[in-house]
Amino acid sequence: MCGISAYYGKENGVPIILQGLQRLEYRGYDSAGLALLKNNEIEIIKTKGKITELKALAEGRSANIVMGHTRWATHGEPNYINAHPHSSADNSIAIVHNGIIENHAELRKELQEKYNYKFTSQTDSEVIAQLIQFFYKGDFEEAFRKMLTKIEGAFGIVALHKDHKQMLCARKGSPLVLGIKEGEYFIASDPTPFLEYTKEVIYLNEKQMAVIDDTGYKVKDFNGFNLTTELETVPYGIEAIQKGGFEHYMLKEIFEQPETILNCFRGKIRHIDSISIKKENIKRIIFVCCGTSFYAALVGKYIIEKTVNLPVSVEYASEFRYRQPMLFPTDLVIAVSQSGETADTLEAIRLSKSLGCNVAGIVNVTGSSIAKECGQGIYLHAGPEIGVASTKAFSSQIIAFILLSMYFSQNPYFRKEVIEDLEELPAKVKAFLQIQNIQSIAEKYKHAKFFMYMGRDINYPVAREGALKLKEISYIPAEGYAAGEMKHGPIALIDENTPSVFIVTKDSVYEKVISNMEEVKCRKGKIICICDEITEEIERLTNDIILVPKVRWELTPIINVLPLQLLAYYIAKANGREIDQPRNLAKAVTVE
Ligand code: G6P
Repeated sequence: MCGISAYYGKENGVPIILQGLQRLEYRGYDSAGLALLKNNEIEIIKTKGKITELKALAEGRSANIVMGHTRWATHGEPNYINAHPHSSADNSIAIVHNGIIENHAELRKELQEKYNYKFTSQTDSEVIAQLIQFFYKGDFEEAFRKMLTKIEGAFGIVALHKDHKQMLCARKGSPLVLGIKEGEYFIASDPTPFLEYTKEVIYLNEKQMAVIDDTGYKVKDFNGFNLTTELETVPYGIEAIQKGGFEHYMLKEIFEQPETILNCFRGKIRHIDSISIKKENIKRIIFVCCGTSFYAALVGKYIIEKTVNLPVSVEYASEFRYRQPMLFPTDLVIAVSQSGETADTLEAIRLSKSLGCNVAGIVNVTGSSIAKECGQGIYLHAGPEIGVASTKAFSSQIIAFILLSMYFSQNPYFRKEVIEDLEELPAKVKAFLQIQNIQSIAEKYKHAKFFMYMGRDINYPVAREGALKLKEISYIPAEGYAAGEMKHGPIALIDENTPSVFIVTKDSVYEKVISNMEEVKCRKGKIICICDEITEEIERLTNDIILVPKVRWELTPIINVLPLQLLAYYIAKANGREIDQPRNLAKAVTVE
């Protein structure tokens, strides 16, 4: 993961990069650092802390060429020494790196044993700076390219040399985007750090590098041959990445859902056949995904199997790619990913492609690696999601599965009915968000040591997503389960101190969920119930009720996840947690 932000231009780049790094903290926040190139010297400022601490350390500094890094540790604990930028032993070169250099140990050993190089950190990244120094004979770009031929693994790298007014960068596996303005250039992990300066960007493709100097920018392949590139325009503005009056990004993103849901289906529901996914001869759909996207995809399985009669399997990308999956050319393998950068999901798609499958993406971030690799699919158009705990992407992913089922279904009645219900959904979501009573319920249970979440059928994955949200941001252990499975183990965890959150929609499994609630009740468990109708049984069995609007079956996960997102948010807040940046997590997991 890690975030990279760099500036080459006429202004003081220090405040520009510090602000940019703060926007990239969703990618990791274990430590941070800057390198400033000025008067043939590189100054490095680093901290074990977050960007706010780096800001204090960099107070009053100025340079026109600056690069910065915010770290999510992979090799070497998060401390000062391991923070980026890293320098060559002679301090002539500085680099920032996102990704993993897989052969770093052998390269390090060779440089140490044969050439007596001294290393200071435990990181895999330091070897990049040392190798550039090793190859340097007066031509920085040439040394940089020679370094690229030696390293294996995934990387987004930016490098500076004290004697060259040049900024070099390269990408393989980890994203880098160039921001282009007259006489000013930006390099970053995504466009958010420089959005107020330019929306004109070039997304570097795999195995591309760029050279920036006073004459402009050049994009090249790793052999140094110039490539022609196209400028793209970022489709959102600065307001999309600001908190907009909310205390946290997560809360803002929860409240954005009426619009993000609409944005996902608006341009498509009346032109459903214009979706660009090849569907001829498809006999099975396989979703590959991680985290929240995995739970969304489980919902997708329920929707598509029921409405289209097509078998669907849902796979953790990290398992799928290592277990020799049985794949056929008639399989459609769909990557489901908010960021479009998750390393395992990307590799799962590459594997499927190499085995002759049709591949597609359901992705939020336009121009992301997965979107490019797939070349066809559905964009969510949910705007940047910055809170580490995913919220609006989940609801939009479910909309995308509904669109996919409409696309595969030839039934005009189904399509017509869904269109009508989808069009009413944003207003229902908005109405719920305005009147919910969840903050007081969160206060009541904030000290609970463990939570159960249960649902059945299409709402079983929603229960798992609810438990994940709570774990991620409040650090309270929670288990999300299929309510029918409860008696095969988890019921042993129920006592008078255990809150169980039940999703009980008035649908075909309503009576079954009620029976499961009875089983919890008679073991003195506390029940928080999310329902779309308050019946006599629900009143009798529950301690707390959250009433949600009634919607058609396919849409219930979207309505039911809202109280779960808010419950997790308010419990975490009541416990004083760092909601947007929970410990140990990162938003885009670009390492395996
Ligand atoms: C990380 C994030 C999660 C996300 C998961 C998959 O773990 O913290 O919020 O669900 O990655 O990410 P993706 O971008 O592929 O959906």
